[in-house]
Amino acid sequence: MNDEKLIAAAREAAANAYAPYSEYEVGAALLFDDGAVVTGSNVENASYGLALCAETNAVSKAMNDGRRAGLVAVAVVGPLDKGDGAPITPCGRCRQVLNEIAQLGGTDPEILCVGNDEVRRVKLSELLPHAFGPANLT
Ligand code: THU
Repeated sequence: MNDEKLIAAAREAAANAYAPYSEYEVGAALLFDDGAVVTGSNVENASYGLALCAETNAVSKAMNDGRRAGLVAVAVVGPLDKGDGAPITPCGRCRQVLNEIAQLGGTDPEILCVGNDEVRRVKLSELLPHAFGPANLT
């Protein structure tokens, strides 16, 4: 699985976003070390504050499938026609949600933040340094 394919999977996922309020459709694709890709998109709610982000939905899908480890990369894409075209980075809550499965499996996934003209690659540990996670509770 190369970057382009993972990004394409995230873009496909964004097509299923339910974002009638923000009209900001996001897609996320998680790559696992067995080659599996699990995707998600944002799902909003008439009670605006209940919106669920693409990354959070993807992690929830993966964990509901029984995955607890092996997360190696994540691609995140936003709409091409909104904002300044800068790479989209996961929101704070999604960083914490991603950290849960990453720390469980002992990986530090590469996050591919897709912009209109560039893909910014950052480690989750760079986005969420000094993370609180499951290891703190044992
Ligand atoms: N959103 C995501 O899905 N992921 C992020 O990392 C940032 C924001 C969604 C939430 C909301 O539905 C819309 O984008 C606008 O904030």
